[in-house]
Amino acid sequence: MESHESTEHLRREHLEILHLAERMQDALSLASKDEFAARQKGLWDLRALHHGLLGISQHCGSEDGVLESKYHRHLNGEKYDLINAQHQGISRNIKSFIRELPLLTADSVVDVVPRGFDLVDRIREHIEYEEEMLGYIENNVSWSRNKATVASR
Ligand SMILES: [Fe+2]
Ligand SMILES: [Fe+2]
Repeated sequence: MESHESTEHLRREHLEILHLAERMQDALSLASKDEFAARQKGLWDLRALHHGLLGISQHCGSEDGVLESKYHRHLNGEKYDLINAQHQGISRNIKSFIRELPLLTADSVVDVVPRGFDLVDRIREHIEYEEEMLGYIENNVSWSRNKATVASR
Protein backbone atom coordinates (compact mmCIF):
# COMPACT_ATOMS: atom_id res chain seq x y z
CA MET A 1 0.00 0.00 0.00
CA GLU A 2 3.04 2.20 -0.38
CA SER A 3 1.39 4.14 -3.18
CA HIS A 4 -1.77 5.02 -1.22
CA GLU A 5 0.27 6.15 1.77
CA SER A 6 2.24 8.56 -0.36
CA THR A 7 -0.81 9.90 -2.21
CA GLU A 8 -2.70 10.34 1.05
CA HIS A 9 -0.57 13.22 2.27
CA LEU A 10 -1.06 14.97 -1.08
CA ARG A 11 -4.81 14.58 -0.73
CA ARG A 12 -4.67 15.95 2.82
CA GLU A 13 -2.74 18.98 1.62
CA HIS A 14 -5.28 19.46 -1.16
CA LEU A 15 -8.08 19.71 1.42
CA GLU A 16 -6.13 22.40 3.25
CA ILE A 17 -5.55 24.24 -0.01
CA LEU A 18 -9.26 24.11 -0.89
CA HIS A 19 -10.07 25.45 2.57
CA LEU A 20 -7.70 28.34 1.97
CA ALA A 21 -9.28 29.00 -1.44
CA GLU A 22 -12.63 29.24 0.35
CA ARG A 23 -11.26 31.78 2.83
CA MET A 24 -9.73 33.76 -0.02
CA GLN A 25 -13.05 33.82 -1.85
CA ASP A 26 -14.79 35.17 1.29
CA ALA A 27 -12.11 37.84 1.76
CA LEU A 28 -12.38 38.89 -1.89
CA SER A 29 -16.15 39.16 -1.63
CA LEU A 30 -15.74 41.50 1.33
CA ALA A 31 -13.04 43.47 -0.51
CA SER A 32 -15.42 44.14 -3.38
CA LYS A 33 -18.25 45.54 -1.23
CA ASP A 34 -19.39 49.17 -1.34
CA GLU A 35 -18.98 49.70 2.41
CA PHE A 36 -15.57 50.91 3.47
CA ALA A 37 -15.58 48.80 6.65
CA ALA A 38 -16.25 45.63 4.66
CA ARG A 39 -13.39 46.38 2.25
CA GLN A 40 -11.09 47.09 5.17
CA LYS A 41 -11.99 43.73 6.72
CA GLY A 42 -11.55 42.05 3.33
CA LEU A 43 -8.07 43.54 3.01
CA TRP A 44 -7.08 42.35 6.50
CA ASP A 45 -8.40 38.88 5.73
CA LEU A 46 -6.43 38.79 2.48
CA ARG A 47 -3.26 39.82 4.30
CA ALA A 48 -3.87 37.06 6.82
CA LEU A 49 -3.66 34.58 3.93
CA HIS A 50 -0.08 35.57 3.05
CA HIS A 51 1.47 32.59 4.82
CA GLY A 52 -1.07 30.11 3.45
CA LEU A 53 -0.56 31.34 -0.10
CA LEU A 54 3.19 30.86 0.24
CA GLY A 55 2.40 27.34 1.43
CA ILE A 56 0.48 26.64 -1.78
CA SER A 57 3.42 27.89 -3.80
CA GLN A 58 5.70 25.53 -1.87
CA HIS A 59 3.28 22.63 -2.35
CA CYS A 60 3.40 23.25 -6.12
CA GLY A 61 7.21 23.46 -6.06
CA SER A 62 7.53 20.21 -4.13
CA GLU A 63 5.37 18.41 -6.71
CA ASP A 64 7.61 19.58 -9.52
CA GLY A 65 10.76 17.81 -8.34
CA VAL A 66 11.48 15.28 -11.06
CA LEU A 67 12.87 12.65 -8.70
CA GLU A 68 10.32 12.81 -5.92
CA SER A 69 7.22 13.74 -7.92
CA LYS A 70 4.48 11.10 -7.98
CA TYR A 71 3.01 12.81 -11.01
CA HIS A 72 6.24 12.73 -12.93
CA ARG A 73 6.77 9.04 -12.19
CA HIS A 74 3.29 7.85 -13.12
CA LEU A 75 1.83 10.20 -15.71
CA ASN A 76 2.55 10.56 -19.41
CA GLY A 77 4.22 13.66 -20.77
CA GLU A 78 1.05 15.52 -21.72
CA LYS A 79 -0.64 15.10 -18.33
CA TYR A 80 2.51 15.92 -16.43
CA ASP A 81 3.21 18.97 -18.60
CA LEU A 82 -0.28 20.29 -17.88
CA ILE A 83 0.24 19.94 -14.13
CA ASN A 84 3.58 21.64 -14.46
CA ALA A 85 2.17 24.54 -16.45
CA GLN A 86 -0.61 24.98 -13.87
CA HIS A 87 1.97 25.04 -11.05
CA GLN A 88 3.95 27.73 -12.79
CA GLY A 89 0.87 29.84 -13.48
CA ILE A 90 -0.35 29.54 -9.89
CA SER A 91 3.04 30.29 -8.35
CA ARG A 92 3.53 33.31 -10.57
CA ASN A 93 0.08 34.64 -9.69
CA ILE A 94 0.59 34.05 -5.98
CA LYS A 95 3.92 35.87 -6.04
CA SER A 96 2.53 38.96 -7.72
CA PHE A 97 -0.58 38.93 -5.52
CA ILE A 98 1.49 38.72 -2.34
CA ARG A 99 3.81 41.47 -3.55
CA GLU A 100 0.85 43.81 -3.92
CA LEU A 101 -0.85 43.07 -0.60
CA PRO A 102 1.21 45.46 1.56
CA LEU A 103 0.67 48.34 -0.89
CA LEU A 104 -3.12 48.10 -0.97
CA THR A 105 -5.60 50.28 0.85
CA ALA A 106 -9.27 49.70 1.63
CA ASP A 107 -9.99 51.62 -1.58
CA SER A 108 -7.41 50.19 -3.96
CA VAL A 109 -8.03 46.60 -2.85
CA VAL A 110 -10.92 46.55 -5.32
CA ASP A 111 -8.38 46.61 -8.15
CA VAL A 112 -6.93 43.21 -7.26
CA VAL A 113 -10.29 41.48 -6.69
CA PRO A 114 -10.65 40.14 -10.27
CA ARG A 115 -7.12 38.75 -10.23
CA GLY A 116 -7.80 37.27 -6.81
CA PHE A 117 -10.88 35.45 -8.03
CA ASP A 118 -8.93 34.26 -11.05
CA LEU A 119 -6.31 32.80 -8.70
CA VAL A 120 -9.01 31.06 -6.64
CA ASP A 121 -10.39 29.51 -9.85
CA ARG A 122 -6.96 28.37 -11.01
CA ILE A 123 -6.24 26.77 -7.64
CA ARG A 124 -9.55 24.90 -7.58
CA GLU A 125 -9.21 23.76 -11.16
CA HIS A 126 -5.70 22.53 -10.50
CA ILE A 127 -6.61 20.62 -7.34
CA GLU A 128 -9.52 19.01 -9.15
CA TYR A 129 -7.21 17.84 -11.92
CA GLU A 130 -4.59 16.53 -9.51
CA GLU A 131 -7.19 14.66 -7.47
CA GLU A 132 -8.35 13.02 -10.69
CA MET A 133 -4.74 12.13 -11.53
CA LEU A 134 -4.15 10.73 -8.04
CA GLY A 135 -7.15 8.46 -8.52
CA TYR A 136 -5.71 7.37 -11.83
CA ILE A 137 -2.27 6.75 -10.29
CA GLU A 138 -3.71 4.74 -7.39
CA ASN A 139 -5.80 2.55 -9.69
CA ASN A 140 -2.99 2.08 -12.12
CA VAL A 141 -0.45 1.15 -9.49
CA SER A 142 -2.72 -1.29 -7.65
CA TRP A 143 -3.80 -2.79 -10.98
CA SER A 144 -0.22 -3.44 -12.10
CA ARG A 145 0.61 -4.80 -8.65
CA ASN A 146 -2.33 -7.26 -8.84
CA LYS A 147 -1.22 -8.31 -12.29
CA ALA A 148 2.30 -8.93 -10.95
CA THR A 149 0.85 -10.97 -8.04
CA VAL A 150 -1.26 -13.09 -10.38
CA ALA A 151 1.70 -13.62 -12.71
CA SER A 152 3.92 -14.80 -9.85
CA ARG A 153 1.47 -17.47 -8.69
FE1 LIG B 1 -1.03 18.99 -5.30
FE1 LIG C 1 -0.11 20.75 -7.63
